[in-house]
Amino acid sequence: MANLTALPAHFRWGVATSAYQIEGAVDADGRAPSIWDTFCRVPGAIDNGDTGDVACDHYRRWPEDVALMRELGVDAYRFSVAWPRVLPEGTGRVNPAGLAFYDRLVDALLEAGIRPFVTLYHWDLPQALQDRGGWPARDTAYALADYAAVVAGALGDRVRDWTTINEPLCSAWIGHLEGRMAPGDTDLALAVPAAHHLLLGHGLATAAIRAHATEPASVGVVCNLSPIEPASDRPEDVAAAARADGHVNRWWLDPLFGHGYPADMLEVYRTAPPIRPGDLETIATPLEFFGLNYYFRQRVVADPDGPPPYARQVPVPGAVETAMGWETHAAGLEQLLVRLAEEYGAGPVHVTESGSAWPDRVAPDGTVDDPERTRYLEEHLAACAAAARRGVDVAGYFAWSLLDNFEWAYGYDKRFGLVHVDYATGQRTVKASGRRYAELIRAHRSVLA
Ligand code: IFM
Repeated sequence: MANLTALPAHFRWGVATSAYQIEGAVDADGRAPSIWDTFCRVPGAIDNGDTGDVACDHYRRWPEDVALMRELGVDAYRFSVAWPRVLPEGTGRVNPAGLAFYDRLVDALLEAGIRPFVTLYHWDLPQALQDRGGWPARDTAYALADYAAVVAGALGDRVRDWTTINEPLCSAWIGHLEGRMAPGDTDLALAVPAAHHLLLGHGLATAAIRAHATEPASVGVVCNLSPIEPASDRPEDVAAAARADGHVNRWWLDPLFGHGYPADMLEVYRTAPPIRPGDLETIATPLEFFGLNYYFRQRVVADPDGPPPYARQVPVPGAVETAMGWETHAAGLEQLLVRLAEEYGAGPVHVTESGSAWPDRVAPDGTVDDPERTRYLEEHLAACAAAARRGVDVAGYFAWSLLDNFEWAYGYDKRFGLVHVDYATGQRTVKASGRRYAELIRAHRSVLA
């Protein structure tokens, strides 16, 4: 435990999920389809033809899930609201039954002593908005702000912690350039405007939350970042690493922290974002915290024939890889936390996601022993403590994920949960890593006491 003592007294121990990955009940109480309901129907888009139709059935089993969090002893829960439950047409008509679900959930969390961290957008854009142009259309940014106003108006008397958008990189680059996520486009001319409108929507939504919540709102944005290294010292690989860093990290951080889009990347993309006067100021609205999602570093080589940024990730020799094929590299988390503080002057940083998938097995006695996930958790928490020792305000850690869930294009085979889910029966089983997480929480509290 000694290596976690540097975690500050205000450090929040959390778990995270997102709506489409756990809720199921896609037709219940007036919810309309999102782009992920549509994408799941594209032949070959999702492993095993899986969908989020049932997922963890959290929409019905949420009291059990709140009880599990209480058992783990977490003090915060990061979840997302499903936009198509609240505004089935994306804008305009509010669906009270959809909002009521989150109202009950927030009350139950507070009752259990767990602080809700509400994410507004975790990729489930209402299909109705996609039909009107989706993120490449500027109106979608305004729609996000209107939706933020509705949710903050309904929950902002109890919820204090908000994040606007989750991982805009995935929505813009993977969804519009690589085509591996909804809506499945492969066009830079769509991806660059999508990126800009996601960031603009974040800025507008921040103002809307602050205007409509009645309790003081602490607002952040969530980006998934990776340290980038060249695979060799060949000049073309070094240049590729700089481009990959621009694509993955600086394209998001520079405008969010008030520096505008990186000039080198505007050259690489040769497609200008559709910036209107005032947009960059809106995007750079000061925030109460920054949300960092960290999974892996990237080692790259030049790839002149690939898509922008013309850099290809290559395996790290000797790496320990998770079931996703991602290298486990906790030092990368410390590196990013320090970079955020030193290069961008980021204030409090919450690690809003960190976790790993492994081929978990339920033993005949019903237990799930997952030593790799336990080690991963311990190493990444130690990286937070190391960054804190170097002066970074590391304000919290949200393990991804509370539950095994729908891992997007990978379907249900990749299990990230601290709690195992039997998808046939819905049964939940706390894994050994979940029990270890609970122990670490208790130990940190006792150090502070
Ligand atoms: O499951 C996802 C989550 O939705 C966003 N961040 C990465 C996780 C693991 O891939």
